[in-house]
Amino acid sequence: MSENGKPVISLENVEKIYKTKAGPLKVLKGVNFQVDEGEFVAIVGPSGSGKSTLINMITGIDRPTSGEVFVANQRLTKLSENQVAKWRGRNVGVVFQFFQLLPTITVVENVMLPMHYCNTYGGKRRERAMELLEMVDIPDVADKYPSQISGGQQQRAAIARALANDPKVIVGDEPTGNLDTLSAGLVFALFEELVSQGKTIVMVTHDKDLAGQVPRVEEVRDGRLMTQEEIDQRLVTGR
Ligand SMILES: Nc1ncnc2c1ncn2[C@@H]1O[C@H](COP(=O)(O)OP(=O)(O)OP(=O)(O)O)[C@@H](O)[C@H]1O
Ligand SMILES: [Mg+2]
Repeated sequence: MSENGKPVISLENVEKIYKTKAGPLKVLKGVNFQVDEGEFVAIVGPSGSGKSTLINMITGIDRPTSGEVFVANQRLTKLSENQVAKWRGRNVGVVFQFFQLLPTITVVENVMLPMHYCNTYGGKRRERAMELLEMVDIPDVADKYPSQISGGQQQRAAIARALANDPKVIVGDEPTGNLDTLSAGLVFALFEELVSQGKTIVMVTHDKDLAGQVPRVEEVRDGRLMTQEEIDQRLVTGR
């Protein structure tokens, strides 16, 4: 985080405890995390460390057991589930590992969906969706169904959908995790382009090469964000 930046994401002492058959499971153990407007952040860490849980706090897909979450000027912990869903549709674009396009409608219709949900762009929805598909370089597959296009194209369509309502924040949970190297590179380049346009991006990735190209990398270990001291210490001890 820069000294004088404007935080667009702020997690304060966030804890998340899941109820499981074996008893309560504390998955986030007091996370403090601030992201400034225009930052590009990669989240790395071992499987099961809590990365997706952390991401779901930012999107409001899940809510903390305690602590506060502020995103795009909204205190999420105060909103009902319905209010969060409405808020998310306008303020956060979410990109998943397995794209999650609706299979029964065309690509361009998928991109139009968030505009329907949020009642934005009126009669201009198709036009705007086509512009977004041009931006992600797949206008030619607009009228195909998701199953008829490649994984890389599906993810670009999902990014266009995430951008539908022009959100400030884009969040990706392993958005390149299911793509070949070439498609992953193209999706990553698109993210860089969006950051250069002023978007804020937080992206979970297992890909060390890609994480190495992101200006800020945060590491989740056992439900906590590692401090710089801990990372330095590890360099010394090798653990
Ligand atoms: N809804 C849930 N109920 C119970 N336990 C859960 C739930 N969601 C996640 N967990 C547990 O919380 C821990 C962290 O899960 P999370 O999905 O956040 O990890 P992750 O870092 O994203 O892992 P991966 O790299 O494999 O995606 C795991 O032990 C997981 O089993
Ligand atoms: Mg995960």
